[in-house]
Amino acid sequence: MTIPATSVLDRAAEIIAAFVPDNDLVDLLTQLQEALGYIPPPSIALIADAAGVERPAIYKAIELSPSLTLQPPGKHLLYVCSADNCCAKGGLALAATAKRVLGADFYQCDAGKNVRLEPFRCLGNCVNGPNIALDKVVQGPMTPEKLESLLQGLL
Ligand code: FES
Repeated sequence: MTIPATSVLDRAAEIIAAFVPDNDLVDLLTQLQEALGYIPPPSIALIADAAGVERPAIYKAIELSPSLTLQPPGKHLLYVCSADNCCAKGGLALAATAKRVLGADFYQCDAGKNVRLEPFRCLGNCVNGPNIALDKVVQGPMTPEKLESLLQGLL
C-alpha cells in the first residue's frame, strides 16, 4: 500500500486535528502509524502543536517504540507471526529467513523498499501455523523455502 505524498500529509493532518490534547501522545503516533504506515516527518511540527510537546519528545517517543517509524512503508508488508503457537511450529525459522532474504530486521524494509518486515502477535490462524501475512493475506502453514521463494518474487 503506497499512498501519494500529498494524500499522506492531508490524512496525517486530519488525524492530528482530531487529537485530544489530554490523550496519550503515543496513541496519536500509533494512529498515524496504523493509518499511513509511518509517521511522516513533515507532520512532526503539527504533532508537537497538537500535543503541546517539544519536537524532541516526539522523536524520543518514536525511537522508544519499535513499531513506530519515520520511514515510509515498502510496497508490501510482511507479518511473520511471532506468537507462541507459530513459534513452536517453526515461526522463528520463518523470521530468520525473512530477515536474511530481505537483509532487514523487524520494522525495516529491504534496501529497495519493496517489503517491510514486522512481527505480529497471532494472525488468528493458529491451527495452520506457522503463519505469515503478506499485505494482510494470511498464509499458512508456511515453510522457510516457500517464504524465500515468495520474497524473491517481490524483490
Ligand atoms: S499463533 Fe500464529 S496465528 Fe496464532
